[in-house]
Amino acid sequence: MCGIVGIVGRQPVAARLVDALRRLEYRGYDSAGVATIHDGVMERRRAEGKLFNLEKKLDADPLPGTVGIAHTRWATHGVPNETNAHPHFVDGVALVHNGIIENFSELKDELLSEGAVFESQTDTEVVAHLLAKYRRQGLDQRAAMLAMLNRVSGAFALVVLFRDAPGMILAARSGPPLAIGHGSGEMSLGSDAIALSPFTSEITYLVDGDCAILTHDSLEVIDFEGKPVTRRSQISQASAFMVDKGNHRHFMEKEIYEQPEIISHALSHYVNFAAHTIKTNGTAIDFGAVSGLAISACGTAYLSGLIGKYWFERYARLPVEIDVASEFRYRELPLSPSQAALFISQSGETADTLASLRYCKDNGLKIGAVVNVQESTIAREADAIFPILAGPEIGVASTKAFTCQLAVLAALAIGAGRARGTISAGDERALVKHLIEMPRIMSRVLNEIQPQIEALSRDLSRFKDVLYLGRGTSFPLALEGALKLKEISYIHAEGYAAGELKHGPIALIDENMPVIVIAPHDRFFEKTVSNMQEVAARGGKIIFITDEKGAAASKLPTMATIALPNVDEIIAPMIFALPIQLLAYHAAVFMGTDVDQPRNLAKSVTVE
Ligand code: AGP
Repeated sequence: MCGIVGIVGRQPVAARLVDALRRLEYRGYDSAGVATIHDGVMERRRAEGKLFNLEKKLDADPLPGTVGIAHTRWATHGVPNETNAHPHFVDGVALVHNGIIENFSELKDELLSEGAVFESQTDTEVVAHLLAKYRRQGLDQRAAMLAMLNRVSGAFALVVLFRDAPGMILAARSGPPLAIGHGSGEMSLGSDAIALSPFTSEITYLVDGDCAILTHDSLEVIDFEGKPVTRRSQISQASAFMVDKGNHRHFMEKEIYEQPEIISHALSHYVNFAAHTIKTNGTAIDFGAVSGLAISACGTAYLSGLIGKYWFERYARLPVEIDVASEFRYRELPLSPSQAALFISQSGETADTLASLRYCKDNGLKIGAVVNVQESTIAREADAIFPILAGPEIGVASTKAFTCQLAVLAALAIGAGRARGTISAGDERALVKHLIEMPRIMSRVLNEIQPQIEALSRDLSRFKDVLYLGRGTSFPLALEGALKLKEISYIHAEGYAAGELKHGPIALIDENMPVIVIAPHDRFFEKTVSNMQEVAARGGKIIFITDEKGAAASKLPTMATIALPNVDEIIAPMIFALPIQLLAYHAAVFMGTDVDQPRNLAKSVTVE
């Protein structure tokens, strides 16, 4: 996902803009650029690859000016090179963009027929040409912006400089987020509050359909018809400390190890630690009254939802319909206003998840958002927000957000069970006690298994294919383990329901493909051990992730056995998430990949 920043102020901006882009690096990118205006001259520097390359250009050829915009690009249209990097320049217009202009090809044809000359392969450049065209027709900057906004369609956050209006930045949002920073003697804007945290904590979030006009001491917001709208500012929770890795090599490692502390913080929002009860859910969603749940999300967030499905069905006897958002939104699922819908998203900006939310809202369902960013679009469009309070997750691969999502879903499922009378007060106290013990157990596991996992990951990184197996809530964990491994180490991995092994995947079993079996000593343990026997009988190598009881019970030969503490089923997914996160992390370190920003990936996919 692209990153955008801009400043209109009184101090030199080029270096500050690049520093702000660095705070957006976690979003994933493949090129970057900055443009400023000074003494009526508009100039830019752009570079392929990491920000270091852009900084080298700026060192060699500095950019003066106190007004500027900058961008990190995650290529959607056109290869990642300098020509396609933003800002795009056309006749005194400089533009940066996050998102996709869906009707860019018809607009491009129209502009080409009028003699426009394009330098890049991007959809973004079309917008710059449109603005330049409207300015040539005599429209002022604001009118040109509104005319453009009424021509383009798609998902976009756009930020524009006009050479002949050096004290002004214009911006517009329809999809990807834009935050405005209220500084002293300057105004700034960015893709999120993290980028602006060194400049200010007073933030105004634009919503879809907003067009903003910034000067060094003012902010005006209008809609795409030009009518003024009121947007209030708020003090953002983002602050400068978050971008510090501490004594870890990568953000992902830091975020894996901070899970115990983070989970405690998340649980405190949902659990009464003294009474061992779930706090009353004072939101618009009454789980006691709904007839069923729909859950939709993407990637790791979907997998936490898949585990949540098991819990809502088991503890609250609530039927749950779940699908990945990119499928959910097009299925035209028959839904009823008597149901509620939960959308799980770390960023709160994932386009497919937002589209699924809007489908359910149109069908009259009460909408719940299980999110990490409480000011995000998904949060703002929901009837109820269930924050996961994981703090900003910088590593592209989701770790602490995943376990916090699980902790929140577990609390909601237990609370739903109490509200529906499907679990007793005693059951609730017992289950909540396990949740309360979870952070301590996570700390113990993280301290104990590190050396074994690191050695095992070295072996694992020799293989080209890995299969993960699990049953019950360990099945979505198998999917998550495979996703973690493939997305950061680039080793191919698949997750499978262990019971499905003999329905196909068993054909793959040989000594060249390790099989990672996730099996606490629970109701499914014996059945999963039979699957392991099927693997061993065919010369397969088994990595057995179980608990002390399971390790003692199984006599099967393994490549390695990781024995975790014996825990209740309600917290097993959060505990067993730790070895699969660490396995993927250390394998990636051995593979030498870019652990925090794996190739081709973005932290939040705000385009379809
Ligand atoms: C997680 O490791 C992945 N990077 C990715 O699947 C992510 O979970 C997915 O894109 C959803 O993002 P969201 O939670 O911000 O909606």
